Amino acid sequence: MALSRLRSSLHVWLSLLGLTIAAQQIPLSSSIHEQSNLDFTSFAPHIFSSLRYLLEQWPNTYIPNGHSIIPCEIPAYTNLYHGRRDGLLPSSPEWFAFDAEMSYGIMGSDRNSHLLTYQNVKPVQCLYFDGMSAALMGSGPLDSQMVFLCGNTTCSLGGDDPWHGIMDEYARAGALCHWVQQNGLGGLGWGVEGIVRMNAGFEMIWCNFTSPNMQLISHVNVTAPLLPDRTKQEEVLGEMASVEDPSTATDMLATRSSPSSTSTSDIPTGKPDMPSPPNFRGGGLEPFLRSQSFEWYRSASWHIGSSGSSIGRPEGRVKLNSCGFLTYYEPVLKDFHSAFVEEERSRLNLTADGTWKGPGEDGNHSVALKELALRRRSHNLAQMTNPESDIMRDAVLHTLRALNHSSFLCTGIDWVQKAVDVAARFSIPLSQTQHLLYHPPTDRTNNTLIQDYIAALRSKSHTMLMPYLTYPLTAAALPDINARCTTSQTIALQRLRDTLLPNERSLLTTFETVLSAICNTTLSLAFDVEQAWQTYYQPNISTPIPDDILDTLVRDHSASISLLRAWLGWFPDDMQCDSVCAVDEFCFIPIWPLMFLEPRGRGGPGRGPGGGGPPGGGDDGRGPPGHGPPGRGRGPGRGPPGRGGGPPGGDPWEDMESEIWRPRCIKVLD
Ligand SMILES: *[C@@H]1O[C@H](CO)[C@@H](O)[C@H](O)[C@H]1NC(C)=O
Ligand SMILES: *[C@@H]1O[C@H](CO)[C@@H](O)[C@H](O)[C@H]1NC(C)=O
Ligand SMILES: *[C@@H]1O[C@H](CO)[C@@H](O)[C@H](O)[C@H]1NC(C)=O
Ligand SMILES: *[C@@H]1O[C@H](CO)[C@@H](O)[C@H](O)[C@H]1NC(C)=O
Ligand SMILES: *[C@@H]1O[C@H](CO)[C@@H](O)[C@H](O)[C@H]1NC(C)=O
Ligand SMILES: *[C@@H]1O[C@H](CO)[C@@H](O)[C@H](O)[C@H]1NC(C)=O
Ligand SMILES: *[C@@H]1O[C@H](CO)[C@@H](O)[C@H](O)[C@H]1NC(C)=O
Ligand SMILES: *[C@@H]1O[C@H](CO)[C@@H](O)[C@H](O)[C@H]1NC(C)=O
Ligand SMILES: *[C@@H]1O[C@H](CO)[C@@H](O)[C@H](O)[C@H]1NC(C)=O
Repeated sequence: MALSRLRSSLHVWLSLLGLTIAAQQIPLSSSIHEQSNLDFTSFAPHIFSSLRYLLEQWPNTYIPNGHSIIPCEIPAYTNLYHGRRDGLLPSSPEWFAFDAEMSYGIMGSDRNSHLLTYQNVKPVQCLYFDGMSAALMGSGPLDSQMVFLCGNTTCSLGGDDPWHGIMDEYARAGALCHWVQQNGLGGLGWGVEGIVRMNAGFEMIWCNFTSPNMQLISHVNVTAPLLPDRTKQEEVLGEMASVEDPSTATDMLATRSSPSSTSTSDIPTGKPDMPSPPNFRGGGLEPFLRSQSFEWYRSASWHIGSSGSSIGRPEGRVKLNSCGFLTYYEPVLKDFHSAFVEEERSRLNLTADGTWKGPGEDGNHSVALKELALRRRSHNLAQMTNPESDIMRDAVLHTLRALNHSSFLCTGIDWVQKAVDVAARFSIPLSQTQHLLYHPPTDRTNNTLIQDYIAALRSKSHTMLMPYLTYPLTAAALPDINARCTTSQTIALQRLRDTLLPNERSLLTTFETVLSAICNTTLSLAFDVEQAWQTYYQPNISTPIPDDILDTLVRDHSASISLLRAWLGWFPDDMQCDSVCAVDEFCFIPIWPLMFLEPRGRGGPGRGPGGGGPPGGGDDGRGPPGHGPPGRGRGPGRGPPGRGGGPPGGDPWEDMESEIWRPRCIKVLD
């Protein structure tokens, strides 16, 4: 294809985008040290977070509805696993897991279980959908694929009813691969050959197994001999009896379709039955049925990602080309954007310019802040229209073409790493600063204590702004400091702005918008603290800082820092188990389909009141686990008509934060 044609098609997309970028230019010079208002209708923090947490298990479980589509590559000779319940070779398309434990978790413990291992003999191209994009737990996590394939979240892929369409993984896989081939973006042995997604672990839809790029390196019958009848039969069967239910989540994955295609009534409630986890399957005398779920979970946790103090890595076998990053949060999708903004404005109590008005008379401040911080969880693509989905699909098409033709169009920036760096620099200091501001000294008679407090605030704000600060910190110096901080990641790109691919131009704007909010808020704190420090403590303690001045400082800035953190909506730094788990335990949060790994009816550690058991379960812990997908039912006004919603009260998904996503140590069972 002629490069000129490529450029012209890019220009359409580029000019569309240009409009919004121009409107978003950030004023970098100003001489008042006041804070700008945080615009809660801005998509920038969402684009930033989506980028920051790509390929990380926990953040994408915590916020399961993905919005982004990113070109990727699998390095040569990567091991890829395919499990089956027969001795055949896979037809096409079929699934690969990046970890053998995931394949075995889905296809193991059958009388005819097989594990096939493949390697790709050269690097292969792929497309990655973020979020829990392989979780069949309602439409939210699948929205980005459905909209991509057929224009909105209520369309269907075949003649079937929509709900069944959502569950039909083969139809979806086939349609994704077909789109790639039809648009000349990939085929046998070239271009995009796989689609990367996530549930408990990462997987890849492989479009065609006759590809010369994929080589079978082993094919093993992993069927294990059954346990002897007498011993465990009673116990095992007894445990399983009450839940003997063919529709386990694994069966959904193993067959890649809804086990009960009759469940069309699920649509109006938006709360499909949560299938039983794999280890609830009546496995009779299969010896490894229970452990396979734990091992599967363990393998998922290898890619848990890092946040704050918890150390983990993202899925490393997928290399992203962040130059081609695209997201439904892109403001170029104007109708979607405005429908979305309008809805959030009323639900989250925002003014016309996106400023938060506060929780209102009936509201609770801390609850409302949490609501703001977690607003991304309720985002789905229900408001997406067919014409705008075309824009996104075209953008993916143009991007893939552009990347294939001329990687020189890209700057070579690793935008994901940049986002990781920015979040790493600010995340913990921001939460520590907030903690300080929430806990001012109560003893106002002890001057040493108060001076130490101001010094601690001074130190924290210095930490965050150190690369940009100059002393003395006067009002006149603020604009320069603010500008240095805001453009710290992007200044050298400014002169290239017009030649960048639209994707990178958008990322540039995102970074400057996010950094502008961080820099403005923290600099305003730094300035006020410095004034206090200079006035009362340097060079000598003359008079201690008056109570009312200290109170004002603490009040204003605890409000602004906590609001900033809510605006950013980053994955919480303290998301980890309270204690170090014992050797025979691991740190657990439910990840579809491994929602409730503890066997029913067994009280374990952390199953007491307020403890870890599945909320909504029966008193004895044997009732059905909580129902319904996250991201539905908490949405716009508890869901636009026909979606979301559900009975108010007693909903286990209501307080996901403390009930569902609170990590806890649970015991590994063999
Ligand atoms: C924050 O932004 C506002 C408005 O853009 C500006 O007037 C102010 O000077 C900035 N504050 C600081 C501390 O840079
Ligand atoms: C795999 O092994 C199991 C148990 O040994 C056996 O029953 C089954 O027939 C084998 N499958 C094939 C395809 O050989
Ligand atoms: C896979 O490739 C083979 C060989 O070109 C072709 O016959 C087959 O239809 C392809 N399958 C799919 C699902 O595209
Ligand atoms: C959704 O898309 C389908 C097919 O692409 C179309 O027939 C249907 O009218 C769309 N629904 C809405 C609400 O736009
Ligand atoms: C990608 O590049 C290769 C080699 O330059 C070319 O053969 C192929 O047609 C290109 N694919 C697309 C989608 O432009
Ligand atoms: C919005 O206002 C309602 C009613 O006062 C309140 O319940 C809710 O928590 C508020 N939410 C936010 C984010 O302010
Ligand atoms: C707000 O909610 C939190 C958490 O539910 C609670 O601890 C706090 O007491 C409430 N505050 C007010 C003023 O009701
Ligand atoms: C004041 O606070 C400091 C620091 O916490 C402490 O060491 C000191 O004993 C306190 N002085 C009085 C008089 O309480
Ligand atoms: C600070 O204290 C030192 C020694 O006590 C004194 O010499 C100096 O004049 C004081 N400076 C101010 C600004 O009070």
